[in-house]
Amino acid sequence: MAVKEQIVKVWIEEGCIVCDACETAAPDVFDVQDETCEIRPDALKMEFTKPRTDSIVEAAEECPVDVIKFDVVSEEVADAALAAPSPAAAEAAPVASAPAPVAAAPSEPAPAAVAKSPVKSPAVSVAGAPDPAIQALLRAATARGGMAGRSRDEGGPEAREWSKKRADDLPPDARTSKVMQGTRGKDAGVTRRGLLAGSAAAIGWAAFGGTTMVSGVAFQRFLMPNVLEEPDPKIRVGTVSQYAQMVPGEVNEDYKPIGVWMIRTEGKLAALNIICTHLGCIPNWLANDRKFKCPCHGSGFYPDGINFEGPAPRPLERFKISLIDGTIVVDRSKKFQFEKGEWDNSDSYLSV
Ligand code: FES
Repeated sequence: MAVKEQIVKVWIEEGCIVCDACETAAPDVFDVQDETCEIRPDALKMEFTKPRTDSIVEAAEECPVDVIKFDVVSEEVADAALAAPSPAAAEAAPVASAPAPVAAAPSEPAPAAVAKSPVKSPAVSVAGAPDPAIQALLRAATARGGMAGRSRDEGGPEAREWSKKRADDLPPDARTSKVMQGTRGKDAGVTRRGLLAGSAAAIGWAAFGGTTMVSGVAFQRFLMPNVLEEPDPKIRVGTVSQYAQMVPGEVNEDYKPIGVWMIRTEGKLAALNIICTHLGCIPNWLANDRKFKCPCHGSGFYPDGINFEGPAPRPLERFKISLIDGTIVVDRSKKFQFEKGEWDNSDSYLSV
């Protein structure tokens, strides 16, 4: 006999961005609807959740805003049961193991930008390592990809009303911050494998205390390192000549894995934040349609970042951009909002 951690209760805390990631990992447990996500009735019973422990853990790990919580219990199980994957896990495995197209194959930053960069400041990172938080959101947005082409409002009066709202009436930036804060936790690398390894370690606990009940949060905390590394907000994104061929309305996606679209407008080069201003998903750039389209709830943005359809209440944000010793540096810690008139700030663009 061996001891295995099994989930006896699963729930969703406030802050869900209805991205589909959990339902993709555990479709018989989570039901993602248009505006919310619910636990399916069967999954409210521990007999149902126990054999689905692996897929629920995977769903929690894939959740970009970390709102899926669960309680676990250590129980003795037959060795054969420990080795064999549960039916639910086996069902979810093909989806979970398939690499997300965007996350698995990020566009490579232009080598010239890295090799030739004369930037000396140690505070500026070379763009290259994908941001784990962005990766989590990209996976979620990819899972939601089926809705990418769907528009609910297609612009019209409602969209125009949003564009007229005062900044004070708009959702606070804290919402996006919360999304990013939630995804930062993924940086700690609590992987499904890690949790299963934790289960194996739990065998030792059980030897001391028999069956124990711990909260899912506490269980994950136990497995997480105490120190999380925040990615450097300043990144180098090449030289001006690298973008010389871009025409107004064109979008460069080389730095999307680290959260930035480089865009060209009339006479300006700017760095657009890829986070949707509705609930924090990541839109797709649809080159043929000349627009960004959010797969979560259908918001659409023009190539310059202005919203024109769907529920997004305001345009995408732009990051601070500057030229240092011939290299373009984007500072993701400083954002500029159109509705506050901040896109006129000379730090929000480079003249080209
Ligand atoms: Fe809702 Fe983008 S997050 S439309």
